[in-house]
Amino acid sequence: MDRKKITPVDIQAMKKEGKKITMLTAYDYPMALLEDRAGIDIILVGDSLGMTVLGYENTLPVTMDEMIHHTKAVTRGAKYALIIGDMPFMSYNTSERDAIINAGRFMKEAGADAVKLEGGITVKDIVKALVKAGIPVMGHIGLTPQTISMLGGFKVQGKDAEGAQKIIDDAVQLEDAGAFSVLLEAVPAPIAKRITERLNVPTIGIGAGVHCDGQVLVVHDMLGLFDRFTPKFAKRYVNLSELMLNAFESYREEVSKGTFPTDQHSFHIDEKELSKIK
Ligand code: KIV
Repeated sequence: MDRKKITPVDIQAMKKEGKKITMLTAYDYPMALLEDRAGIDIILVGDSLGMTVLGYENTLPVTMDEMIHHTKAVTRGAKYALIIGDMPFMSYNTSERDAIINAGRFMKEAGADAVKLEGGITVKDIVKALVKAGIPVMGHIGLTPQTISMLGGFKVQGKDAEGAQKIIDDAVQLEDAGAFSVLLEAVPAPIAKRITERLNVPTIGIGAGVHCDGQVLVVHDMLGLFDRFTPKFAKRYVNLSELMLNAFESYREEVSKGTFPTDQHSFHIDEKELSKIK
């Protein structure tokens, strides 16, 4: 396959050409390598890593240092995909200056190509400031896990006219602020369709129906590696937990019984050499 590194401009061109955009999260080198090899367009180093790989209760405790550490591993693994660093809670909400410094860290220290942040009208000035500083931004509206307590829990957003109108307005404001793309999480499909038709920039959906310009899934959900919380939209393509558990149990059994390692997994030394040793 003739491939080149994907940029935010390429992602925007895909909408114009009617090509669906594929996006997955990744938090480490091997996952990024495989997603890149599979031809995924965008890799998001999501703050979901707080729950999926660090074992936190939610995404709020995730720090910039943790995000940078994982983003570095991902950028070492993926050559072609556009890599987006997800700005953790309180890394951008405090001031435009903090937002620029932290987004700058994703690009300078970790090699990310863009950042994502949660919020609509409330973060418009922050998005503008980042774009002005030369940092491509993906917006994230609808269900925004960093403000989950304000939303009353993990539930679909925009179910009534007022709520839906707010999401549409947020999307328009993000585009006006210069976001190169907008992620829609847990939004009724007809509302996501309207937003997708209204915006010039691409929409990426998760639990937002088939009409979005692209789709994203949390990789641990689609691989069956995280079952503490499984949203309706998280399609499981394989149950890796079961396969891994079987492998761990087989290994434990074989070591206990002394059937591993076999000759095939051991190194040998010439008998003559062996006989010389006292
Ligand atoms: O952190 C994350 O994984 C996300 C999802 C919506 C993709 O933001």
